[in-house]
Amino acid sequence: MASTSSQDLVERAIRALPGGTIGNVPMSKDHPVIIREGRGSKVYDVDGREYLDYMIGSGPMILGHAHPAVVEAVQRQMARGSTFFITNELAIELAEEIVRAVPCAEQVRYVSSGTEATFYALRIARAYRKRDKILKFEGGYHGMHDYAIMSLSPTKLSPFPTPVANSAGVPKAVQDTVLVAPFNDLDYATELIEQNHDDLAAVIVEPLQRVIEPMPGFLQGLRKVTQQYEIPLIFDEIVTGFRFAYGGAQEYYGVEPDIAAIGKIVGGGFPLAGVVGKRDIMHSFDPEMEGTDEYVPQVGTLNGNPIAAAAGLATLEVLRQPGAYERLFATGRQLMGGLEQLLREAEIPAKVSGEAPMFDVYFTEEEIVDYRATMRADSTMHKKFVSSLVDQGILRAGHKFYVSLAHDQQDVDRTLDAFKQAIDIIR
Ligand SMILES: Cc1ncc(COP(=O)(O)O)c(C=O)c1O
Repeated sequence: MASTSSQDLVERAIRALPGGTIGNVPMSKDHPVIIREGRGSKVYDVDGREYLDYMIGSGPMILGHAHPAVVEAVQRQMARGSTFFITNELAIELAEEIVRAVPCAEQVRYVSSGTEATFYALRIARAYRKRDKILKFEGGYHGMHDYAIMSLSPTKLSPFPTPVANSAGVPKAVQDTVLVAPFNDLDYATELIEQNHDDLAAVIVEPLQRVIEPMPGFLQGLRKVTQQYEIPLIFDEIVTGFRFAYGGAQEYYGVEPDIAAIGKIVGGGFPLAGVVGKRDIMHSFDPEMEGTDEYVPQVGTLNGNPIAAAAGLATLEVLRQPGAYERLFATGRQLMGGLEQLLREAEIPAKVSGEAPMFDVYFTEEEIVDYRATMRADSTMHKKFVSSLVDQGILRAGHKFYVSLAHDQQDVDRTLDAFKQAIDIIR
């Protein structure tokens, strides 16, 4: 139950914000959580209640909250000015680091959010290919723009490759520019690309779709067929970038796209994202191209913001320290393995899906290979599981657990105990 102080804030939120929310997490009626602050692996609500945090800001806070190196870097830059619009030193430094790290990145164009990054990735692919259509995968999340919202989370399924708009207010014409395929079905995607190659500007994919792992050969197959028809392949690495490896999912899975969208970790918890890619595609952003049919103007008030760049650089410096990824993966593996074991012991049919830095559980006997398989899992059981965790002071993102470097052994033990209790409840 909400205390007086949170109750007052809930009422104020409901008056000032649609649904009482900033848009990301619905305001729960039974258990409204309003966050006051975060430190390390914990966040604290306005009533002072502590939560062990596996939401980590929906992914950016891989070092945990208020990491001293990030705080120090941000404070140092804050005292020297917050934004200039014109190119700044830290933005150049961060771009150089991204180019060193990410295999497909020869150049970087900054934007402020992941939504913008995938939007411009698609636009620049169209400018390069001089075609309009894109292929995306059902259930793939690329932010909230008109193309990304197509078949993001359809409840009414339509036959492939026809997209369904998961939002009101999307022009019907957009539907004609998007083809949709099931994730992990390489034969279907290949056939679709072969049939439509002359209309396709790009194929966009999350290398790990939400928490669904790519089946062996899937990403490699997409790479091969897109290369064959010279269609830019876009990896949406907003989540996986700097998380699965320093070079992202393209390093981790060993498949190099032409373009990638990066965000979250690279902005260190500040609004910074980017389109990265090969020089011959990225040159469309070059103002020298103005007046040509390849020019893609892209201006943003906060492009390459120096505070965000400082936070990003400080975050990446910690991630480059020896053993950082080994530690992140070890923590994730303990949590995933522990959860699997508890579910097995309880004889509850379930699949723990994802990679160690981010995963979730589906209550089903079926292999989780695509969006439709996730839909067939038992969502009531999932809700009960998550709700029991919140009751026990464990917070997670809507559809996944994000692991951070701040989660220590004590946190893991506490989480495994909470998993056990939650499983007892759903049983
Ligand atoms: C894979 C992926 N792409 C794009 C986005 C959109 O990023 P943003 O919320 O910064 O607009 C997200 C956000 O969670 C994401 O997970």
